[in-house]
Amino acid sequence: MSTTTAPRRAFDALIAERGLGFGGDYNPEQWSPEVWREDVALMQRAGVNLVTVGVFSWAMIEPIPGAREWGWLDEVLDLLHEGGIAVDLASPVASPPPWLGVRHPETLPVDRDGVRLIPGSRNQFSPASLVYREHAAAITRDLAERYADHPAVRMWHIGNEYGQVDHGDEAAREFRLWLHRRYGSIEALNDAWGTAFWSQRYAAFDEILPPRRMPYLVNPTQSLDFRRYSSDQLLECYRELRDIIRDAGATQPITTNFMGFHALTDYWSWADEVDVVSDDQYPDPASPQAPADIALVQDLMRSLGDGRSWVLMEQAISATSWREHNLPKSPLRARRDSLQAVARGADAVCYFQWRQARAGAERFHSAMLPHAGADSDVFRGVCRQGEDLKKLSSVAGTGVAAEVAILFDWSSWWAGEEPARPTERLRTMTEITRWYRELWRRGVAADVVSAASDLTGYRTILVPHSYIVTPATAEALRAAVEAGAHVVVGPFSGVADENAQVLTSRSPVLLRDLLGASSEEWGAVPDVGSPLVADERWDAGRGLSQPSASILAERLRAEGAEVLARHSSGELEGVAAITRRAVGDGAAWYVGAVVDPEMLSALLGDVLAAAGVIDAFGAPAGILPDGLEAVRRGDVLFLLNHADAPMDIAVDGSHIDLLTGDETNGSVGIAPGEVRALTERRTW
Ligand code: GLA
Repeated sequence: MSTTTAPRRAFDALIAERGLGFGGDYNPEQWSPEVWREDVALMQRAGVNLVTVGVFSWAMIEPIPGAREWGWLDEVLDLLHEGGIAVDLASPVASPPPWLGVRHPETLPVDRDGVRLIPGSRNQFSPASLVYREHAAAITRDLAERYADHPAVRMWHIGNEYGQVDHGDEAAREFRLWLHRRYGSIEALNDAWGTAFWSQRYAAFDEILPPRRMPYLVNPTQSLDFRRYSSDQLLECYRELRDIIRDAGATQPITTNFMGFHALTDYWSWADEVDVVSDDQYPDPASPQAPADIALVQDLMRSLGDGRSWVLMEQAISATSWREHNLPKSPLRARRDSLQAVARGADAVCYFQWRQARAGAERFHSAMLPHAGADSDVFRGVCRQGEDLKKLSSVAGTGVAAEVAILFDWSSWWAGEEPARPTERLRTMTEITRWYRELWRRGVAADVVSAASDLTGYRTILVPHSYIVTPATAEALRAAVEAGAHVVVGPFSGVADENAQVLTSRSPVLLRDLLGASSEEWGAVPDVGSPLVADERWDAGRGLSQPSASILAERLRAEGAEVLARHSSGELEGVAAITRRAVGDGAAWYVGAVVDPEMLSALLGDVLAAAGVIDAFGAPAGILPDGLEAVRRGDVLFLLNHADAPMDIAVDGSHIDLLTGDETNGSVGIAPGEVRALTERRTW
């Protein structure tokens, strides 16, 4: 999405015209027309200006094959338009009506065990099914032709949370076609998959099946390719419908709602296909780490859109209902979650859903208008958010500048989590999250980057765990270090090539020269851990209480790099654990073990200092008071208090809080759960 297209400009124009988007999924088909009128009046009261309509309305529009019941939708769209509420109109293809599966069982997905799923829930479609795709195309075409010019419709929303996987016969056909396009010949596939192992050699593409239930371990490259194919197949479904909507004359932006670091869809390949990135976020209020962890997701969304603003398409105003134990959120917490998204680049904040359902599987999922009605703290909180967002309209379209990048790729994640490796306890997302939290607690902004991203200009590039490193990535990291960046590589990185085949020689083969260190073996660490000792010349390492490694450690040797920490006893006694190779103004750091949180914090703090990274206040990055989140969007400094106690934070200069109008000078008080949005007070 590197160029700003006309539909993207249409999104920016909508926000410029109406202010930051605020609203949610609106499912009028669950209610009578009298309720719709009340809905619109209450939306107006709450400051709602954007609703997503029709996500699950396929059976309403097409109750029997070929029918088109538009009357109710005409009325709803007209009502919303009269009420001044913009519509994100959904192509309702996420959940086909029961008749489709009953008449055409081949449209139903088949799971890994060969079980065909049935209607009665939702999402029961196979992305590979030609019949499903014909029906989805037909209803989308008719919908788009009917409403492309409707004045209420300001955005299009395709499907819902694409993430289906099918292992059936149609998927087998599509998988083979995908493989043929990727490899060109069966010989090339056999090489890439390493099928000499266990007598897996294929004589022809039509022998290949999706990874269904097998007697023992699946070929890891087959598994990786099936994940790649599944993501691409869903993307093809999305693209097909997007093009249909465009061909019908729609000029509005088109999107589909992402799901953060979702395990089944490689959003790096999806990002260019949506006009505006949108995402569903459900941080667990029970997790103390939720604010930092959701910040990482929000940074990913901004990064997927090349730094452009994005849409928080769904979140919960209070409790979800799909966890085992669903803690409610206070209105203050819900407000803070929304403002956090705005601070990290969202130009619209929406919920699932507007009115709480009385029937169906999500009857206990919170909604902006709860069962209790408008006389409720939840709804009063919603109204307060509507007011708050109006006050922040000046941030619309602005970005978050980051000096730090964190490398993440879906293929690497997928390949790195295949079973049968030194330890299943080393998890990509756990490592990325652990490293990211160290940035978050220092108020340091980060972009998430892929192997294909331009790394120029970042002062620090973190590679917490990238199982696959290609020659191009290795070259980009080398160039970045030579240009003065500090690159930090975590354990068990650069292990494999893009076919998930292990690179032979001392590891990480392609980064060895850059790091000035390499290892000959990766090993799981016994549960008691492996004690570490920091070199006494390494300032940041001095004074650490009892440093240790867990989970995985490499038998690492310095080859030109200086050793910052070593294993101090046991099997690995004397073996290097952390190394640094200085290169001009930059350096290549290697962490050859999963080091404990205190040591990781000391290390990353040291890296940021060496790289001259500044925090949201414009100061050298240091640890902020516990629970304070600081992020600068455009020229607004957002300070969020996630702790239970009030904070008094020094902020140089005079500022105005956009949310309260308070003037601050030198310091600012923030009550627990509160948010400040400070803009410099100009005296001229
Ligand atoms: C997802 C879906 C919604 C709803 C919510 C509930 O985000 O897109 O339809 O099921 O979860 O949290």
